[in-house]
Amino acid sequence: MFDLTGRVALVTGAGQGVGEGIAACLAARGAVVGVNDLVPERAEAACERIAAAGGEAVPVPFDVTDHDRVVAGFARLAETTGPVTILVNNAGIPPTMALQPFRDTTPADWAPYLAVNLLGVLHCCHAALPAMRTAAWGRIITISSGAGTAGTHLGVATYGAGKGGALSFMRNLALEEARAGITANSVALGLIAKDRAAATAAVDKMAASVPVGRMGLPTDVGALCVYLASEEAGWMTGQTLQLNGGSITT
Ligand SMILES: NC(=O)c1ccc[n+]([C@@H]2O[C@H](COP(=O)([O-])OP(=O)(O)OC[C@H]3O[C@@H](n4cnc5c(N)ncnc54)[C@H](O)[C@@H]3O)[C@@H](O)[C@H]2O)c1
Repeated sequence: MFDLTGRVALVTGAGQGVGEGIAACLAARGAVVGVNDLVPERAEAACERIAAAGGEAVPVPFDVTDHDRVVAGFARLAETTGPVTILVNNAGIPPTMALQPFRDTTPADWAPYLAVNLLGVLHCCHAALPAMRTAAWGRIITISSGAGTAGTHLGVATYGAGKGGALSFMRNLALEEARAGITANSVALGLIAKDRAAATAAVDKMAASVPVGRMGLPTDVGALCVYLASEEAGWMTGQTLQLNGGSITT
């Protein structure tokens, strides 16, 4: 089960963190993985680490906010590997850059959160759909956040707007493509740490508040993405899955 041999995946923002964890897990299950990032050196370094672990990965740097570059990036990857039929929209601007009440922000502050977290998802889905429809098979996964499904007082309203908009988009896309063999699901994350030591240290109040007693790991996210990307997940679509160590969310 969950064998991805013969599939080509593209994971955006996969040069580090959650995205690299997802790319590594897909590669470990046999997919050839296009590793996208805005920073080319990050994408290349992540590919080297995935190759060192026995996986096949190809760097595909581009900016997800630029539709033309997104389309060109998908075409470049397809020339090398064959058509992309698994897309993971992971690229995002973390909320740590936005911790201020909405009343104190300006329109210039909002733009990046909407450009990357919402429009970036639309650009990549638009570029991916033609090949998926030709193959009559596709898996689209968007990495979201609890901030996209529930309100908080933390000053992440614009981040939440981008993430929440993408969730709504994915639910609609899932129904538009349901008869075409293409699924579209979202994963709303809680607190994720870069590695196991950081995940278990629970050094701050937020980490200590996670019911299972630790923060999540990129591999926790990757494992769910392997399932959602698999043949076996063909009846799972239009859903937002909460992956957060048991935290209560709406
Ligand atoms: N880490 C968490 O606790 C957490 C919680 C909830 C949701 N998320 C979501 O998970 C995803 C990954 O988070 P992370 O913590 O690994 O972030 P990160 O900042 O460590 O990594 C994000 C990567 O995306 C790349 N990127 C940024 N803008 C881009 C663009 N325009 N085009 C292409 N690549 C771009 C960055 O260069 C970076 O390498 C994001 O969507 C984030 O919103 C993370």
